[in-house]
Amino acid sequence: MRIDIISCVPALLDSPLNHSIVKRGQQKGLVEIVVHNLRDYTPYAHQQTDDYAYGGGAGMVMMIEPIARCIRQLQAERTYDAVVYTSPDGKVFDQATANSWSLLQNIIILCGHYKGVDERVRQMFITHEISIGDYVLTGGELAAAIITDAIVRLLPGVLGDETSALTDSFQDGLLAPPVYTRPELYEGMQVPEVLMSGNHSKIDAWRHEQALTRTAERRPDMYQRLIVAD
Ligand code: ADE
Repeated sequence: MRIDIISCVPALLDSPLNHSIVKRGQQKGLVEIVVHNLRDYTPYAHQQTDDYAYGGGAGMVMMIEPIARCIRQLQAERTYDAVVYTSPDGKVFDQATANSWSLLQNIIILCGHYKGVDERVRQMFITHEISIGDYVLTGGELAAAIITDAIVRLLPGVLGDETSALTDSFQDGLLAPPVYTRPELYEGMQVPEVLMSGNHSKIDAWRHEQALTRTAERRPDMYQRLIVAD
């Protein structure tokens, strides 16, 4: 899989894309992540990528030319399955979207900034607008990093233990159950006995029960969907 991220502040992506699991995915050759500095594609002086909004109002707008040049150059090199724009106006990103995008070959993610992009960018190039939640960030880079992270960890071979992505919270519509490790007793707090029993069907049943209780308490919206689906 290849993910191209287009940004006018590429340094914001350095750390999240170059450590831990996402780094490992790239080192293993399972994903190629290429960050493009939008300023390298602008035809304007002083590496300008934004301008005042027609009609007035506060805030700058990302111009179409640098974005069009970058996306067109990439599209001339390979076919893209999705051209994503990160914006608080988009559909909220979730595990189902991460799952389905992990099956794609090539994705472009355009990071929004300022007051957003010239509307014609959306009309001409964007296939999906994605928000990571109902709050406003200074730019789409952190959103792009989150989307990339959520996808990359699902690619076969990226996580050491192949099953661990399948047992994540959300994969079965439930939050994950509590987990424990050594020591067995810490300041009077004991690990639940069932986990020490070695009885795997009992342990699975306990974990499922705990996941149900936790979901009902913390995410009644998810729990309701589960009940309706049953
Ligand atoms: N850019 C600014 N806020 C954002 C959000 N919530 N999600 C995605 N991109 C954004």
